[in-house]
Amino acid sequence: MSTYIFQTPPRIIFGNGAVAQVGRETARLGSRALIVTGKSSSTRTGSLEAVTASLNEAGVHPVLFAEVESDPSIQTVEAGAALARENQCDVIVGLGGGSPLDAAKGIVLLLTHPGDIRDYTSQPADGPGMPLISIPTTAGTASEITRFTVITDTEQKIKMSLQGTALIPSVALLDPQLTVTMPQHVTAATGMDALTHAIEAYISKLATPMSDLHALEAIRLIGANLIKAVDSPDNMAAREAMLRGQMHAGLAFSNASVALVHSMSRPLGALFGIAHGQANAMLLPVVMDFNRSAAADRYRHIAEALGENVQELSARDAAKTTVLSVEELFEETGLEQHLSAYGVQEKDIARLAKDAMESASTAFNPRKADLESVAAIYHSLL
Ligand SMILES: [Fe+2]
Repeated sequence: MSTYIFQTPPRIIFGNGAVAQVGRETARLGSRALIVTGKSSSTRTGSLEAVTASLNEAGVHPVLFAEVESDPSIQTVEAGAALARENQCDVIVGLGGGSPLDAAKGIVLLLTHPGDIRDYTSQPADGPGMPLISIPTTAGTASEITRFTVITDTEQKIKMSLQGTALIPSVALLDPQLTVTMPQHVTAATGMDALTHAIEAYISKLATPMSDLHALEAIRLIGANLIKAVDSPDNMAAREAMLRGQMHAGLAFSNASVALVHSMSRPLGALFGIAHGQANAMLLPVVMDFNRSAAADRYRHIAEALGENVQELSARDAAKTTVLSVEELFEETGLEQHLSAYGVQEKDIARLAKDAMESASTAFNPRKADLESVAAIYHSLL
């Protein structure tokens, strides 16, 4: 067996009410905390108040940066870093969906590494970072677990995927109660994102025995609970299972990477503003179909984790069942199924395909993709 490394945040705290521990956890790491969050949802849902109260109680001085838009830009990250410097913050607290948590990582990068954030598209942001506590309020991106962040270069219209050990949070604080307020379509889209992480990590060329454990557990949990969480927002057992599922998916893909679905969804976000989970959800069944022949054995395991009985089937039929199972799950979420609904036209496909081929995760796809095959997949979704 070849050597592999498996990295996780040093501290993962999971459970209902866990958000109340943020003050104590932050006080261990610093005394002046920059809270990085979105423009309104954490205020509306009360999660920001809960975090601020806990910080105050622990004697930590909070500085609020509630400016993060969805798909955070370089400018937003620079503004957050400037505020942290001005206020001499020594710890960062990210609170919200994937966007605020990714912005918090971008801020850590700027505060601890020299040069421009764009420099880190071609080199990892390794070495020491700074204390970062991440608290998700959606169940999907697992940014609180991973070594990745996605920051948008609005001038070039590119979503930059940056990675490195400095971006792994010091503490991941996962509280299922914070996810209950997610709107139905956000539950659906972020849940499909998490399923994509798990499936892509499982079939990735970088998969290891350790990432496989997490990927299969994630597929099992998400497969059994996604529709329950979408249909019954107050179902706490389903919410808890989804948050756990996306955490295991994060542990898997942070180490084994994602693959072609993510390569193809990034340009859809950067050029057409399609939400990350929605874009992945549309792409997942068709890209899985493309990969069928290259990962047949693994597809059988995925089908079993989704509760399908494929024991008696040939490898070919089992793989087809796997794709159908994921397709049905996607349809049940009620998410949009066509790119044309977002204004994507035939003439846009060449640029989309070019950008997807330039994405680093394309290299980890089990089946070699080229411009033509990627363009054909986009075409099938118009
Ligand atoms: Fe993702």
